Amino acid sequence: MSNPSLLILAGDGIGPEVMNEVKRIITWYGDKRDMPFDVTEDLVGGCAYDKHGTPLHDDTMAKAQEVDAVLLGAVGGPKYDDLDFSVKPERGLLRLRKEMDLFSNLRPAQCFDALADFSSLKRDIVAGLDIMIVRELTSGVYFGEPRGIHVEGNERVGVNTQRYTESEIARVARSAFELARRRNNKVCSMEKANVMESGVLWRQVVTEIHEKEYSDVQLSHMYADNGAMQLVRNPKQFDVIVTDNLFGDLLSDAAAMLTGSLGMLPSASLGLPMANGRPKALYEPVHGSAPDITGQGKANPIACILSFAMALRYSFDAGAEADRLEAAVEKVLADGARTADLLGPEGGSPISTTEMGDAILAALDASL
Ligand code: NAD
Ligand code: IPM
Ligand code: MN
Repeated sequence: MSNPSLLILAGDGIGPEVMNEVKRIITWYGDKRDMPFDVTEDLVGGCAYDKHGTPLHDDTMAKAQEVDAVLLGAVGGPKYDDLDFSVKPERGLLRLRKEMDLFSNLRPAQCFDALADFSSLKRDIVAGLDIMIVRELTSGVYFGEPRGIHVEGNERVGVNTQRYTESEIARVARSAFELARRRNNKVCSMEKANVMESGVLWRQVVTEIHEKEYSDVQLSHMYADNGAMQLVRNPKQFDVIVTDNLFGDLLSDAAAMLTGSLGMLPSASLGLPMANGRPKALYEPVHGSAPDITGQGKANPIACILSFAMALRYSFDAGAEADRLEAAVEKVLADGARTADLLGPEGGSPISTTEMGDAILAALDASL
């Protein structure tokens, strides 16, 4: 049997910096755990635009459809801010999500004990936190038509459309209920059914799926604005949160600060099973290209490394190896390793991106 295949799209800004550390970890698994991967690399985002005039070349899209999993760094940057929407770096990522039909975006927010004092919230609010935000990723206002900027009378009008079909809601709801069954059996669905018809339908469909297929799971509903408040008031009340594309984007960035830093949050974007039974999958950190720290060796590689741990778990049936990698991250944090984003106001001396990679590799060695 051939090795599992990975397509690495490191992207822009700190993307390549954090992905370098992931590549060393992939090599470690080949050398030390007899888990070799066939790795190919390609361009996405601004770097693809610079080379091809498009943020995602058709050949790259085709490769992404064929591999067992895609690992992505980050896209975007100020250099590309004024480009036409059709060729913006972010469009490359949105095309991958849409054409691979990655409708279920898993964004876990876990607070490692070593960082509990560093969160912007009090220790007892975040210590032991382990929640999972399931964000619908291929529809909603990100993709709804009509969209655009046009002129009406003597002024410009910007238009986007929030649109959800019943089947789009049902499939992401099912993925949230399935996850909840393997966790603490609770789902909280968030929308704004008080002001949006798409929210009314969302609540109806989630309720129907729950009644018919998952009545053993505890389901609650919350308006997303209240959800945002509850997430910082008492995040441990949640287990799985299921929500739409835009609310999920916002709520997951807010959840990041519960864990200490945006540099800590991984994600898995999953679609339907392929012929080999594995889901179509893309793994990426929740953070962006961080132009303010690019090229300075300051980026925290942990979000990207934990995204690879999610790949081990969800694409490669290697839950024990994912546990090993997560434990290695936990150990280096407990030992005091801190990139700059993980230092509190009292300061301290940060280590570099590569030094964080070194420390995690050493912890992996020590785990053997
Ligand atoms: P960002 O996530 O890039 O940065 C927000 C803040 O968090 C910055 O201060 C940054 O330095 C810090 N930060 C982020 N990741 C970090 C890490 N790993 N280690 C240490 N600090 C980290 O968000 P932004 O500044 O709003 O966006 C910058 C660009 O990235 C934009 O072009 C945006 O569209 C893009 N973006 C891409 C993705 C993605 O590729 N998935 C996600 C979000 C934003
Ligand atoms: C994310 C990012 C993306 C999004 C952008 C870069 C398209 O913010 O993955 O959270 O809005 O989905
Ligand atoms: Mn985002």
